[in-house]
Amino acid sequence: MSSDISRRQFLVTAGSALTAIAFPYSAFSISRTTIQISLEAAPGKVNIGGETDRLTDVLQYNNSTPGPVIRVPQDSLVSIPFGNQLNQPTTIHWHGVRIDNKMDGVPNLTQETIEPGETFTYRFIPPDAGTFWYHSHDKTWDQMARGLYGVLIVEEKDPIAVDQDIIMVVDDWLLNNDYQIDETSLGSLHDWSHGGRLGNFLTINGQPQPQFNVKKGERIRLRLLNAANSRIMPLKISGTMATTIAIDGQPVTPSPLKDSHMLLAPAQRVDLILDMMQNPGESVDIEYRTNKGDIKIASLLSHPTIVLREFPLTSSITLPPNPLPQRIPLGDAEHFELEMIGGAMGGMKGAIHDNEWKDIRSLMRKKLIWAMNGIAGIASKPFFRVKRGTSVTIELNNQNRWPHAMHIHGHHFRSIDDQGLMNPIWRDTILIRGAEKRRIAFVADNPGKWLIHCHMIEHAAAGMTAWFEVT
Ligand code: C2O
Ligand code: CU
Repeated sequence: MSSDISRRQFLVTAGSALTAIAFPYSAFSISRTTIQISLEAAPGKVNIGGETDRLTDVLQYNNSTPGPVIRVPQDSLVSIPFGNQLNQPTTIHWHGVRIDNKMDGVPNLTQETIEPGETFTYRFIPPDAGTFWYHSHDKTWDQMARGLYGVLIVEEKDPIAVDQDIIMVVDDWLLNNDYQIDETSLGSLHDWSHGGRLGNFLTINGQPQPQFNVKKGERIRLRLLNAANSRIMPLKISGTMATTIAIDGQPVTPSPLKDSHMLLAPAQRVDLILDMMQNPGESVDIEYRTNKGDIKIASLLSHPTIVLREFPLTSSITLPPNPLPQRIPLGDAEHFELEMIGGAMGGMKGAIHDNEWKDIRSLMRKKLIWAMNGIAGIASKPFFRVKRGTSVTIELNNQNRWPHAMHIHGHHFRSIDDQGLMNPIWRDTILIRGAEKRRIAFVADNPGKWLIHCHMIEHAAAGMTAWFEVT
């Protein structure tokens, strides 16, 4: 099977049963809105492969692929009773939310797994407005590949002036000739030691090449998420004005999209403002760039007759700031290094696992082929422990030839360049190239036990997962 993205196109109906009730709630003596949304994970079927008579067996939240878009107000009390109707344990992680540690969804670190038939209620107050997402965090390499993910939108207090809010979740699915999830490759050590398990069907919101209806002159907020297990998505949107306003959920100084290109590593998000310039009946395409040419993955089709504005808006939109730390005082920061080794052709001789040094052969029997600071897989001791409020820098030292999308739970961070300058962009996931070193900094202000792992989920499962503690 080739992992080339298929050019086939089909339509899919994704039904979503989402109920939200809002009522006033008073917590910590200020009044908060409480939002309650029920989620349920269960097996389902969806048309990813494009043949209407050949549905793919997937796992879903609320019978929907992706799961329902959850929209909640910033600073509200969000309560999500979650029922596990799968035949295996699971948990949910709220990616990018600077969340209360107990609700972070990491099995055996922040909570016990939710067994089949059980319910667990996730309760949290999202401090930041922006584009986040949620996904399974147990056997993630399998459950997320089968569709257990969705978008979480935290609304700004004052809505920004756009005509439409469009969400595009990009994913690649690896399907076999029967249009079923290719199971022989799930857990394949070959994929785990290379670039991860890459798919052969590219979808947006679970659909091949969907079309979105827009109007000339319309101002659109486009939220893009890469929900693939491991594929880095080089995307292109041309033919219209595009301005980046947020990255990984956090506002940035608005800037025009350079060369119409975006590179989204697994788990990364970008929010754009699009001012639709195309004439009635014309469309703008979102493309996936390959060296054999660009592949259309979605299009924005201008209404054939209705024009909203003859001349698109040119004013810029700046999102209100989120309550991130004002500064990261590096003067008294604690410094750590995370050395990443392993993978195919990585020459790793062995690593510590279960508190014991093991050679590469015995590690491979446990499907471990990567190590961070000489440890493969989650250790009993943290990578580091710091007091709440400590500034931390981490040198992400990639000593192998593979790119990695490093993600930190519960915090956003900034990168520091070779000159020691801090990048103004806050991220929760950063792409580190083969043999590259990057320094990141953050204030460890969220108490608890937090993961730091590669979001190429096969790499995380094969050893690239560590944790730190904020006391
Ligand atoms: Cu989306 Cu542990 O991550
Ligand atoms: Cu990786």
